[in-house]
Amino acid sequence: SNPVTLSHLKKMKAEGEKFTCLTAYDATFTHIMNEAGIETILVGDSLGMVIQGQDSTLPVTIEEMCYHVRAVKRGNSNAFLLADMPFMSYSKPELALDNAAKLMQAGANMVKLEGGSWLCDTVQLLSQRGIPVCAHLGLTPQAVHKLGGYKVQGKSDSAAEQIKQDSIDLVNAGADILLYECIPTELGKEITDMVNVPTIGIGAGQHTDGQVLVLHDMIGINLGKRPRFVKNFLTDGRSIQEAFEAYAQEVKEQTFPANEHGF
Ligand code: KIV
Ligand code: NA
Repeated sequence: SNPVTLSHLKKMKAEGEKFTCLTAYDATFTHIMNEAGIETILVGDSLGMVIQGQDSTLPVTIEEMCYHVRAVKRGNSNAFLLADMPFMSYSKPELALDNAAKLMQAGANMVKLEGGSWLCDTVQLLSQRGIPVCAHLGLTPQAVHKLGGYKVQGKSDSAAEQIKQDSIDLVNAGADILLYECIPTELGKEITDMVNVPTIGIGAGQHTDGQVLVLHDMIGINLGKRPRFVKNFLTDGRSIQEAFEAYAQEVKEQTFPANEHGF
């Protein structure tokens, strides 16, 4: 099948068709995700935790991100590839442009960065230079120490309003995808209905246009406690590819995430 593009994802949103995203860090899993029809793949800075064994994403460097993007790129035939900009690699617009260029040259189709309206200058600069941007809102793991832990965001009316306003500002600055982590299901729905770019959710309910999970979580091999939004799909004697296919099917049918996975 043809490579998935941003216009393809925007068309899916317009037609109300849900799409899938999984994280990958190497060529082999990427290939299997392609075989299973996963539309988008994120080289997440979660690799700091699931690959490197760090206790947060903060130690991950741009060089490490590029190494994994190159590996994923080699294994990829048709998924749309997003790559995370690591902690402080986008602390100023010009620095962000240099580091986003590295990820794009390593093979990414889009970069993702964490934050709200304060990122607008950076998003605008990258967009103007032809680099598509995904903005990650809600629970932003690079800010874990400021947030005081991995907690649900946007629960109060004022916090929800702030996330909505950030979303509008980021789209106006040029963001082409918005990703929400750990926000109330109702807020995920309101924002998805409000913006004209695709939304992706993790712990954001069943109404976002796309869903994402961390590979290690969804095949049940993550160490430590399993967050509420995670489901293990490597069950019932499935192969890894069949687990990816089951995830894709449940996302398309909107049986995953179920109410129990949301906030
Ligand atoms: O790094 C990552 O895996 C992510 C997802 C959890 C969205 O940012
Ligand atoms: Na990330």
